[in-house]
Amino acid sequence: MNVIKKKIFYLYKLLHYHDYLYHTLNMPIISDTEYDFLSNKLYILKNKYVQLYYVVKKTFFKSTRLNIIKKNSHFTRMLSLDHTFDINGYMKFHQNIRNRFNHLNINFFCEVKFDGVALNLLYRKGKLVRALTRGDGVSGEDVTKNAYVVNNIPLVLKGIKEIPELIEVRGEVCMLKKDFLQFNSIALKNNDKFFSNTRNAAAGSLRQKNISITKKRKLFFYCYGCNIISNFKEYETHSKQLNMLYNLGFSISPYILLSHKLNNILKFYYLMEKVRNFLSFNIDGIVVKVNSIARQNILGITNKFPKWAIAIKFLSKSEKTRLLNVEYQIGRTGLITPVAHLEPILISGVIIQKASLYNKNELDKLDLHIYDTVIVYRAGDVIPKIQSTVLHLRPKNAKKVIFPKYCPSCFSLLHIHHSNVIAQCLAGLNCLAQRIKIIGHFFSKDALYVENFSLGIITQLVLQKYIKIPLDCFQLTINLLSGLKYFGVKSATKIIFGLQKCKKTTLSRFIYALGIPEIGLENAEIIATYFGSLSNVLNCTLHQLKKIKNIGVICANYFFDFIRSKKNILYIMQLVQIGGIILSSDENKLFYNKNNVLFNKKIVVTGKFINFNRQQIIDKIVSFGGVIMKNISSKTNLLIVGSNPGNKVHRAIHFDVKMISEGELFDIFQIV
Ligand code: IVH
Repeated sequence: MNVIKKKIFYLYKLLHYHDYLYHTLNMPIISDTEYDFLSNKLYILKNKYVQLYYVVKKTFFKSTRLNIIKKNSHFTRMLSLDHTFDINGYMKFHQNIRNRFNHLNINFFCEVKFDGVALNLLYRKGKLVRALTRGDGVSGEDVTKNAYVVNNIPLVLKGIKEIPELIEVRGEVCMLKKDFLQFNSIALKNNDKFFSNTRNAAAGSLRQKNISITKKRKLFFYCYGCNIISNFKEYETHSKQLNMLYNLGFSISPYILLSHKLNNILKFYYLMEKVRNFLSFNIDGIVVKVNSIARQNILGITNKFPKWAIAIKFLSKSEKTRLLNVEYQIGRTGLITPVAHLEPILISGVIIQKASLYNKNELDKLDLHIYDTVIVYRAGDVIPKIQSTVLHLRPKNAKKVIFPKYCPSCFSLLHIHHSNVIAQCLAGLNCLAQRIKIIGHFFSKDALYVENFSLGIITQLVLQKYIKIPLDCFQLTINLLSGLKYFGVKSATKIIFGLQKCKKTTLSRFIYALGIPEIGLENAEIIATYFGSLSNVLNCTLHQLKKIKNIGVICANYFFDFIRSKKNILYIMQLVQIGGIILSSDENKLFYNKNNVLFNKKIVVTGKFINFNRQQIIDKIVSFGGVIMKNISSKTNLLIVGSNPGNKVHRAIHFDVKMISEGELFDIFQIV
């Protein structure tokens, strides 16, 4: 077996073993997070090596087939659910389904994922005749007598006039939190065996030989679907089917959503994650299903789960890890940000190795020592943060982290403002770290973009003293660049060509490139559109700046301070006259069709796209008068989401920004 095959086999076997401990013996030996971690590892390998995964799986089942004891067969197989631990996985699913149906709006039905044990109830002529656990999906243990004593499982279906002849009703048996706590507190008092969670409690209580024990445990059944075997009308949608089941007397998810919008589905997920602790029963995620049964049939199933449904699971959000080091980053404007380096830890499906400590004050408050055990969480489920230090685990060799007095790059004395919160190196272009970032910013994506002119190359050029300010870059030659480490003539030519091309730019990009504090892309665009030309900008008054709608007083002051300085005016004039920068104004925006939905909207683009590349999308949006922003903020109007979108989606949800997919954007381009 090759290494990957061995890895998959090992993980498969390990998970199978833990499943057995958990479901059959009710004696898990690892935490849910550890289980999820292993499961995610396998999931990643599966995605990367699909074919190999199924080969290994087959081998595995061949070797374990003898252990499967046949009990009683389900009429139709009880499938499991595909799952993901983060919303990237869900996006993929959502996109795939939309692609499959030519980008039509597809209705998705969302419900909670009950954290219990699956049960299949068979009703003949409206009477409960059999109940089976899921088992291996083909056959399960017969627990009919136990099901009879679960209070909310109807023994006879309601609405006797309209009931199916033969129907399998599927759902999850759960133990309510209050009953679980009560059971455990009595068990602890009596020194009896207690359960580690409600799922184990439900499984253990359902599979009792003595049904009076099952009855005492007050189990609860939530129904999530059915399989009508004979003599009943077909339902067009999952929602109608659930409604029918509700009318027949079953409890269904108290929280549901029917929507075709990605935005709403993600909001539902976050909402359920927020409220899960307040529910009377445990949930471990949400389940999203294609609502149309006809579409479900078109999508079909794999040999384990339907292709029309997916579970988005929740993960525990705070974990312990060790602090390995604290590094001090120097920003473009000289602000010093301490960053914690951590022993890698998986939180909400993402491996976390670094956490920003924001400022001096935050670092002091945590009283961090190197080698401390710290509790890390993801704020808003996105940004890694250190919550606290576990003092009693502090080792003897731990070293207190002390905020530096001097800039780690140029060693000038740091300036501390705002009552000990902000530390800043005021050396500007004289500080090497800031110089590299200032030049990097000048040629970055939203400024005078030069493809492949990376911070790595800029660092080499600065260290070798070839460049000191952005203007120097226009003097670079192919010869000089191709002499750098890891650099060939071909890439050098590309960059020199890029440096020539970038000179033709817009006023807003140029203003942004100057790197004035508080003047991001958005403010630069507002200023450029308001004044129309560089000479107007350079001759503006503070009063005019303060009058501009959406420009705050602080920004106006920063901007005015910058253009008031003779040194800066000279710098700008040299860029234009010596550097040869040619500016076009942003006024042409005024000629756009203002009625289109993209006009003047602040738009962020994220992820990969199928029909366009990112630049094509950006160009098209700009041609409709949209304003492209780099990051999501409360001012963003729209996020265009491709596949594998990353953190921007979380932030969009946080700021309640509307999100649309590639297909929806395509529709807009067509309509406009
Ligand atoms: S639908 C064919 N909906 O989760 C798809 N399953 O981890 C059938 N589960 O085996 C499943 N809540 O036992 C569905 N709202 C829900 C659910 C749910 C819990 C269980 C189910 C399934 C397991 C997969």
